Amino acid sequence: PLVLHVLGARPNFVKAAPVVRGLADLGVRQGIVHTGQHYDALMSDVFFADLGLPEPIANLGVGSGSHAKQTAALLVGLEEVVLKESPDLVVVYGDVNSTLAAILVCAKLGVPTAHVEAGLRSFDRGMPEEVNRVVTDALADVLFATSPDALSHLANEGVDPAKVHLVGNPMIDSLFSALPKLDPEPVRARLGLPEAYAVATLHRPANVDDPESARELVDAVLAVSRQIPVVVPLHPRGRTRLAEAGLVSGETMTIIDPLGYVDFLSLVRGAKLVVTDSGGVQEETTMLGVPCLTVRPNTERPITITHGTNRLVTPALLPAAAEKALADGAATPSGELPPLWDGAAGPRIARVIASWLKGDNLSP
Ligand code: UD1
Ligand code: UDP
Repeated sequence: PLVLHVLGARPNFVKAAPVVRGLADLGVRQGIVHTGQHYDALMSDVFFADLGLPEPIANLGVGSGSHAKQTAALLVGLEEVVLKESPDLVVVYGDVNSTLAAILVCAKLGVPTAHVEAGLRSFDRGMPEEVNRVVTDALADVLFATSPDALSHLANEGVDPAKVHLVGNPMIDSLFSALPKLDPEPVRARLGLPEAYAVATLHRPANVDDPESARELVDAVLAVSRQIPVVVPLHPRGRTRLAEAGLVSGETMTIIDPLGYVDFLSLVRGAKLVVTDSGGVQEETTMLGVPCLTVRPNTERPITITHGTNRLVTPALLPAAAEKALADGAATPSGELPPLWDGAAGPRIARVIASWLKGDNLSP
């Protein structure tokens, strides 16, 4: 049998690497289809190198565009490659447009699918990712959940619990694998940062697309930079709008290109504070014990609040929250890390897939 992994955006690569390795260890034939949703070297190639991912068997080169244009290009490209390769299972990851397109194409072609990171919900349909999550989980044949709250969300939506497997978080497997390589010092020195610094990442449309929201956010991050120097590895999405809103390099503010995976996590590991609107970064800071302030009204990852270092803040409350976090350090309310975030999610997922491939619910 053949397993295809459909990957398109930066967080997909991080989640897939442990699953690909787990399946390789079990001798399962597999291939990566890169949709080309992310294409800059610093948004794509560097992750294949840092994570040891094999070369894709195809790159669809769909690139950027409106949701409709990008999704349409994804649908056309993915249908062709799925028909050509005729996989027994297609694995999709997270909540990006490549995930949604792949699940839709496979559902229409009758090709079985598995969704890694199923059941996360922000209950905010204004987020494009929430729409992608709901549709993906409605159509997936096998669902891999990273946290227990996902199980009840899926049950509430009528997903058969027999299809759902709580397996832990493969993004944390990647973090564990990278851990021995995470050294803040060389990155800090290269960027000319002092020993105490904060890292910020910002790319959610609700924060960076609207000039008014961008200005409010930038003012708040500038206020944080008056407490502690801030480095911002900036996602291409926010580059223009945030610069227009005043996010430019200065004495205590360093704006840089996105960093590679190992460099970025090295910087986070050494940081006193992280300010973010990323999904994955909320999880990584929880495991690294770095205080994290998430500038969003909600999170699909509440376990990073109950079992981690994450707090939700508004832009208006960010400066005061930063002051408190810098004084208090990382406080984890429950004192316990999320269950099964132990670095073994990839092998768990691989075992389920391998036994599923042997099962009789597959077309011959
Ligand atoms: C996508 C995901 C988001 C995820 C993020 C991870 C969707 C709907 N959103 O958002 O959930 O958190 O990836 O990083 O799938 N661009 C470049 N170079 C690139 C890629 C993008 O310059 O290699 C710029 C383009 O101007 C593009 C914009 O970034 O229009 C947005 O890219 P897109 O892939 O549409 O969505 P993201 O904002 O990256
Ligand atoms: N990341 C990175 N370099 C950066 C910013 C983020 O390697 O400059 C990594 C981060 O460690 C995490 C992943 O990219 O593993 C998260 O991606 P992103 O924030 O773009 O997407 P989200 O998780 O919000 O969907």
